[in-house]
Amino acid sequence: MADLIPFDERDGSLWFDGKIVPWRDAKVHVMTHALHFASCVFEGERIYSGRIYKLKAHTERLFASAAQLGITIPYTEDEINRACYEAAAVQNIQDGYVRPVVFRGAATLPTVSAQHAGVHVAIGVWPWPSYFDPAQKLKGIRLDISEWRRPAPDTIPSKAKAAGLYMICTLSKHAAEAKGYSDALMFDYRGLVAEATGANIFFVRDGQLHTPTPDCFLDGITRRSVMAIAAARQIPVRERAIQRDELPDFTECFLTGTAAEVTPVSEIGPYRYRPGKICELLMNDYAAEVRRAGTAADV
Ligand SMILES: Cc1ncc(COP(=O)(O)O)c(C=O)c1O
Repeated sequence: MADLIPFDERDGSLWFDGKIVPWRDAKVHVMTHALHFASCVFEGERIYSGRIYKLKAHTERLFASAAQLGITIPYTEDEINRACYEAAAVQNIQDGYVRPVVFRGAATLPTVSAQHAGVHVAIGVWPWPSYFDPAQKLKGIRLDISEWRRPAPDTIPSKAKAAGLYMICTLSKHAAEAKGYSDALMFDYRGLVAEATGANIFFVRDGQLHTPTPDCFLDGITRRSVMAIAAARQIPVRERAIQRDELPDFTECFLTGTAAEVTPVSEIGPYRYRPGKICELLMNDYAAEVRRAGTAADV
Protein backbone atom coordinates (compact mmCIF):
# COMPACT_ATOMS: atom_id res chain seq x y z
CA MET A 1 0.00 0.00 0.00
CA ALA A 2 1.26 3.48 -0.92
CA ASP A 3 0.75 4.70 2.67
CA LEU A 4 3.25 2.17 3.92
CA ILE A 5 6.09 3.54 1.80
CA PRO A 6 8.29 5.58 4.16
CA PHE A 7 7.90 9.26 3.44
CA ASP A 8 11.61 9.71 2.68
CA GLU A 9 11.74 6.81 0.25
CA ARG A 10 9.03 7.88 -2.15
CA ASP A 11 9.25 8.49 -5.85
CA GLY A 12 8.45 11.87 -7.30
CA SER A 13 10.07 15.26 -6.89
CA LEU A 14 9.94 18.35 -4.76
CA TRP A 15 11.09 21.96 -4.80
CA PHE A 16 14.25 22.48 -2.74
CA ASP A 17 16.23 25.74 -2.65
CA GLY A 18 15.03 26.86 -6.04
CA LYS A 19 15.38 23.55 -7.89
CA ILE A 20 13.19 20.55 -8.54
CA VAL A 21 14.97 17.53 -7.05
CA PRO A 22 14.08 13.84 -6.71
CA TRP A 23 11.90 13.42 -3.59
CA ARG A 24 14.13 10.72 -2.11
CA ASP A 25 17.26 12.90 -2.48
CA ALA A 26 15.84 15.96 -0.69
CA LYS A 27 17.98 15.45 2.41
CA VAL A 28 19.65 17.64 5.05
CA HIS A 29 22.77 17.05 7.14
CA VAL A 30 22.43 15.83 10.75
CA MET A 31 24.18 19.01 11.91
CA THR A 32 21.33 21.14 10.55
CA HIS A 33 20.58 23.92 13.04
CA ALA A 34 16.80 23.43 12.76
CA LEU A 35 17.12 19.83 13.87
CA HIS A 36 18.96 20.78 17.06
CA PHE A 37 17.31 24.09 17.88
CA ALA A 38 13.89 24.11 16.15
CA SER A 39 14.83 27.08 13.92
CA CYS A 40 12.09 26.16 11.48
CA VAL A 41 8.75 27.52 10.29
CA PHE A 42 6.32 25.94 7.90
CA GLU A 43 2.90 26.05 6.28
CA GLY A 44 0.19 23.54 5.53
CA GLU A 45 -1.95 24.25 2.47
CA ARG A 46 -4.49 22.31 0.48
CA ILE A 47 -4.80 22.21 -3.26
CA TYR A 48 -8.35 21.59 -4.51
CA SER A 49 -8.95 20.86 -8.20
CA GLY A 50 -5.60 22.39 -9.06
CA ARG A 51 -6.01 25.63 -7.01
CA ILE A 52 -4.19 26.19 -3.73
CA TYR A 53 -6.79 27.59 -1.34
CA LYS A 54 -5.76 30.96 0.17
CA LEU A 55 -2.21 30.55 -1.08
CA LYS A 56 -1.35 34.22 -0.61
CA ALA A 57 -2.53 34.19 3.00
CA HIS A 58 -0.46 31.07 3.72
CA THR A 59 2.64 32.55 2.11
CA GLU A 60 2.19 35.82 4.02
CA ARG A 61 1.94 33.82 7.23
CA LEU A 62 5.07 31.83 6.31
CA PHE A 63 7.02 35.07 5.94
CA ALA A 64 5.52 36.48 9.16
CA SER A 65 6.44 33.30 11.06
CA ALA A 66 9.99 33.43 9.69
CA ALA A 67 10.30 37.11 10.65
CA GLN A 68 9.23 36.26 14.22
CA LEU A 69 12.15 33.81 14.39
CA GLY A 70 14.54 36.33 12.85
CA ILE A 71 14.80 34.24 9.68
CA THR A 72 15.03 36.02 6.33
CA ILE A 73 13.58 33.91 3.53
CA PRO A 74 15.86 34.25 0.48
CA TYR A 75 12.91 34.49 -1.96
CA THR A 76 10.01 36.85 -2.51
CA GLU A 77 6.44 35.91 -1.63
CA ASP A 78 5.62 35.73 -5.35
CA GLU A 79 8.52 33.33 -5.93
CA ILE A 80 7.27 31.10 -3.12
CA ASN A 81 3.71 31.21 -4.50
CA ARG A 82 5.01 30.14 -7.92
CA ALA A 83 7.20 27.47 -6.33
CA CYS A 84 4.16 25.98 -4.54
CA TYR A 85 2.43 25.52 -7.90
CA GLU A 86 5.64 24.18 -9.45
CA ALA A 87 5.93 21.61 -6.66
CA ALA A 88 2.30 20.56 -7.23
CA ALA A 89 2.77 20.39 -11.02
CA VAL A 90 5.88 18.24 -10.82
CA GLN A 91 3.95 15.77 -8.67
CA ASN A 92 0.95 16.07 -11.00
CA ILE A 93 -1.33 16.72 -8.04
CA GLN A 94 -4.73 18.37 -8.35
CA ASP A 95 -6.03 17.51 -4.89
CA GLY A 96 -3.52 17.28 -2.11
CA TYR A 97 -1.49 18.87 0.61
CA VAL A 98 1.27 21.45 0.15
CA ARG A 99 4.02 21.76 2.78
CA PRO A 100 6.47 24.68 2.47
CA VAL A 101 9.20 24.49 5.14
CA VAL A 102 11.87 27.09 5.95
CA PHE A 103 14.79 26.18 8.17
CA ARG A 104 18.26 27.18 9.25
CA GLY A 105 20.98 24.97 7.79
CA ALA A 106 24.31 23.43 8.68
CA ALA A 107 26.82 25.94 7.35
CA THR A 108 28.21 26.71 10.81
CA LEU A 109 28.86 25.00 14.14
CA PRO A 110 25.47 23.86 15.49
CA THR A 111 25.28 26.08 18.58
CA VAL A 112 22.55 28.42 19.74
CA SER A 113 23.82 31.27 17.60
CA ALA A 114 22.91 30.67 13.98
CA GLN A 115 23.71 33.95 12.22
CA HIS A 116 25.51 32.21 9.35
CA ALA A 117 23.97 28.73 9.36
CA GLY A 118 22.16 29.45 6.09
CA VAL A 119 18.43 29.38 5.34
CA HIS A 120 16.80 26.70 3.22
CA VAL A 121 13.34 26.37 1.75
CA ALA A 122 11.64 23.22 0.57
CA ILE A 123 8.11 22.60 -0.74
CA GLY A 124 6.69 19.11 -0.98
CA VAL A 125 3.23 18.22 -2.28
CA TRP A 126 1.50 14.91 -1.83
CA PRO A 127 -1.92 13.52 -2.65
CA TRP A 128 -4.40 13.94 0.15
CA PRO A 129 -7.96 14.00 -1.13
CA SER A 130 -10.16 15.86 1.30
CA TYR A 131 -12.20 13.47 3.41
CA PHE A 132 -15.76 14.40 2.75
CA ASP A 133 -18.42 11.96 3.70
CA PRO A 134 -20.77 14.29 5.61
CA ALA A 135 -22.66 11.46 7.35
CA GLN A 136 -19.41 9.95 8.62
CA LYS A 137 -17.93 13.30 9.59
CA LEU A 138 -21.06 14.35 11.48
CA LYS A 139 -20.51 11.55 13.96
CA GLY A 140 -17.78 13.77 15.34
CA ILE A 141 -14.35 13.03 16.73
CA ARG A 142 -13.40 12.52 20.37
CA LEU A 143 -10.95 14.90 22.05
CA ASP A 144 -8.86 14.27 25.12
CA ILE A 145 -7.95 17.17 27.42
CA SER A 146 -4.24 17.88 27.19
CA GLU A 147 -2.05 18.33 30.23
CA TRP A 148 0.04 20.84 28.27
CA ARG A 149 -0.88 24.49 28.04
CA ARG A 150 -0.36 26.91 25.18
CA PRO A 151 2.45 29.19 26.33
CA ALA A 152 2.25 32.91 27.06
CA PRO A 153 3.21 35.25 24.20
CA ASP A 154 6.16 36.57 26.22
CA THR A 155 7.66 33.08 26.56
CA ILE A 156 7.81 32.07 22.86
CA PRO A 157 6.66 33.56 19.51
CA SER A 158 3.30 31.91 20.15
CA LYS A 159 1.53 33.12 17.00
CA ALA A 160 4.15 31.81 14.57
CA LYS A 161 3.68 28.52 12.79
CA ALA A 162 7.03 27.40 14.12
CA ALA A 163 8.33 23.88 14.70
CA GLY A 164 9.19 24.48 18.38
CA LEU A 165 5.57 25.15 19.25
CA TYR A 166 4.60 21.67 18.12
CA MET A 167 6.63 19.84 20.77
CA ILE A 168 3.68 20.01 23.20
CA CYS A 169 1.25 19.27 20.35
CA THR A 170 2.96 15.98 19.56
CA LEU A 171 3.09 15.10 23.28
CA SER A 172 -0.62 15.92 23.65
CA LYS A 173 -1.58 14.03 20.50
CA HIS A 174 0.37 10.93 21.49
CA ALA A 175 -1.19 10.95 24.98
CA ALA A 176 -4.64 11.29 23.37
CA GLU A 177 -4.02 8.48 20.87
CA ALA A 178 -2.78 6.20 23.65
CA LYS A 179 -6.20 6.64 25.30
CA GLY A 180 -8.11 6.04 22.06
CA TYR A 181 -8.94 9.70 21.31
CA SER A 182 -8.35 11.36 17.93
CA ASP A 183 -6.90 14.60 19.25
CA ALA A 184 -6.71 16.82 22.33
CA LEU A 185 -8.03 20.19 23.44
CA MET A 186 -5.34 22.44 24.88
CA PHE A 187 -5.96 25.20 27.41
CA ASP A 188 -3.67 28.21 27.55
CA TYR A 189 -1.32 29.51 30.24
CA ARG A 190 -4.28 31.31 31.90
CA GLY A 191 -6.45 28.18 31.83
CA LEU A 192 -8.63 29.49 28.99
CA VAL A 193 -9.76 27.26 26.11
CA ALA A 194 -7.18 27.56 23.30
CA GLU A 195 -7.14 25.07 20.40
CA ALA A 196 -6.51 21.46 19.39
CA THR A 197 -3.04 20.18 18.47
CA GLY A 198 -3.31 21.24 14.83
CA ALA A 199 -6.66 22.99 14.49
CA ASN A 200 -8.76 25.80 15.98
CA ILE A 201 -11.95 25.22 17.94
CA PHE A 202 -15.50 26.58 17.79
CA PHE A 203 -18.55 25.97 19.97
CA VAL A 204 -22.27 26.55 19.41
CA ARG A 205 -24.81 27.74 21.95
CA ASP A 206 -28.28 29.16 21.24
CA GLY A 207 -27.54 29.52 17.52
CA GLN A 208 -24.33 31.51 18.12
CA LEU A 209 -20.72 30.55 17.45
CA HIS A 210 -18.15 31.03 20.20
CA THR A 211 -14.44 30.77 19.55
CA PRO A 212 -11.42 31.75 21.64
CA THR A 213 -9.56 34.96 20.82
CA PRO A 214 -6.27 33.88 19.19
CA ASP A 215 -4.00 35.95 21.43
CA CYS A 216 -1.51 33.15 22.19
CA PHE A 217 -2.08 30.57 19.45
CA LEU A 218 -2.34 30.33 15.69
CA ASP A 219 -5.06 32.46 14.11
CA GLY A 220 -5.98 29.84 11.53
CA ILE A 221 -6.76 30.74 7.95
CA THR A 222 -9.63 28.22 7.98
CA ARG A 223 -10.87 29.77 11.22
CA ARG A 224 -11.14 33.14 9.48
CA SER A 225 -12.86 31.60 6.43
CA VAL A 226 -15.41 29.89 8.67
CA MET A 227 -16.09 33.13 10.55
CA ALA A 228 -16.74 34.85 7.21
CA ILE A 229 -19.02 32.02 6.09
CA ALA A 230 -20.94 32.24 9.38
CA ALA A 231 -21.33 36.00 8.96
CA ALA A 232 -22.68 35.48 5.42
CA ARG A 233 -25.19 33.03 6.90
CA GLN A 234 -26.18 35.56 9.59
CA ILE A 235 -24.86 33.29 12.33
CA PRO A 236 -23.47 35.55 15.09
CA VAL A 237 -19.82 34.83 15.97
CA ARG A 238 -18.45 35.72 19.40
CA GLU A 239 -14.66 35.74 19.55
CA ARG A 240 -13.83 35.89 23.24
CA ALA A 241 -12.12 34.33 26.24
CA ILE A 242 -13.77 30.95 26.90
CA GLN A 243 -13.52 29.50 30.40
CA ARG A 244 -13.22 25.79 31.07
CA ASP A 245 -16.40 25.74 33.16
CA GLU A 246 -18.42 26.83 30.10
CA LEU A 247 -17.63 23.58 28.25
CA PRO A 248 -20.75 21.71 29.49
CA ASP A 249 -23.05 24.52 28.29
CA PHE A 250 -22.29 24.27 24.56
CA THR A 251 -24.38 22.05 22.28
CA GLU A 252 -22.16 21.69 19.19
CA CYS A 253 -18.41 21.83 18.76
CA PHE A 254 -16.10 21.61 15.76
CA LEU A 255 -12.48 22.06 14.74
CA THR A 256 -11.19 24.08 11.80
CA GLY A 257 -7.90 23.78 9.98
CA THR A 258 -6.41 23.31 6.56
CA ALA A 259 -6.00 19.58 7.18
CA ALA A 260 -9.09 19.17 9.41
CA GLU A 261 -11.30 21.47 7.28
CA VAL A 262 -14.49 21.61 9.40
CA THR A 263 -14.51 18.56 11.67
CA PRO A 264 -17.34 18.09 14.17
CA VAL A 265 -16.46 17.04 17.72
CA SER A 266 -18.63 14.68 19.78
CA GLU A 267 -16.64 14.58 23.03
CA ILE A 268 -14.06 16.57 24.96
CA GLY A 269 -13.03 14.53 27.99
CA PRO A 270 -16.21 14.28 30.11
CA TYR A 271 -18.25 16.70 27.94
CA ARG A 272 -20.59 15.58 25.13
CA TYR A 273 -21.68 17.40 21.99
CA ARG A 274 -24.12 16.53 19.25
CA PRO A 275 -22.94 17.72 15.83
CA GLY A 276 -26.02 19.39 14.40
CA LYS A 277 -27.38 21.84 11.89
CA ILE A 278 -24.71 24.51 12.33
CA CYS A 279 -21.81 22.04 12.02
CA GLU A 280 -23.40 20.58 8.91
CA LEU A 281 -24.09 23.94 7.30
CA LEU A 282 -20.55 25.23 7.88
CA MET A 283 -18.99 21.93 6.77
CA ASN A 284 -20.93 22.06 3.51
CA ASP A 285 -20.36 25.77 2.91
CA TYR A 286 -16.62 25.40 3.55
CA ALA A 287 -16.42 22.41 1.18
CA ALA A 288 -18.17 24.49 -1.50
CA GLU A 289 -15.97 27.54 -0.85
CA VAL A 290 -12.64 25.74 -1.26
CA ARG A 291 -13.76 24.20 -4.53
CA ARG A 292 -15.00 27.47 -5.98
CA ALA A 293 -12.00 27.69 -8.29
CA GLY A 294 -11.22 30.93 -10.02
CA THR A 295 -12.82 33.19 -7.42
CA ALA A 296 -11.14 35.40 -4.85
CA ALA A 297 -11.37 32.48 -2.40
CA ASP A 298 -8.25 30.76 -3.68
CA VAL A 299 -5.81 33.64 -3.38
C1 LIG B 1 -1.62 24.51 16.07
C2 LIG B 1 -2.54 24.84 14.93
N1 LIG B 1 -3.62 25.61 15.18
C3 LIG B 1 -4.50 25.92 14.19
C4 LIG B 1 -4.31 25.48 12.90
C5 LIG B 1 -5.28 25.86 11.83
O1 LIG B 1 -4.67 26.77 10.94
P1 LIG B 1 -5.10 26.87 9.41
O2 LIG B 1 -6.58 26.99 9.41
O3 LIG B 1 -4.43 28.10 8.94
O4 LIG B 1 -4.63 25.63 8.76
C6 LIG B 1 -3.21 24.68 12.62
C7 LIG B 1 -2.97 24.20 11.25
O5 LIG B 1 -2.13 24.72 10.56
C8 LIG B 1 -2.29 24.37 13.64
O6 LIG B 1 -1.21 23.60 13.40
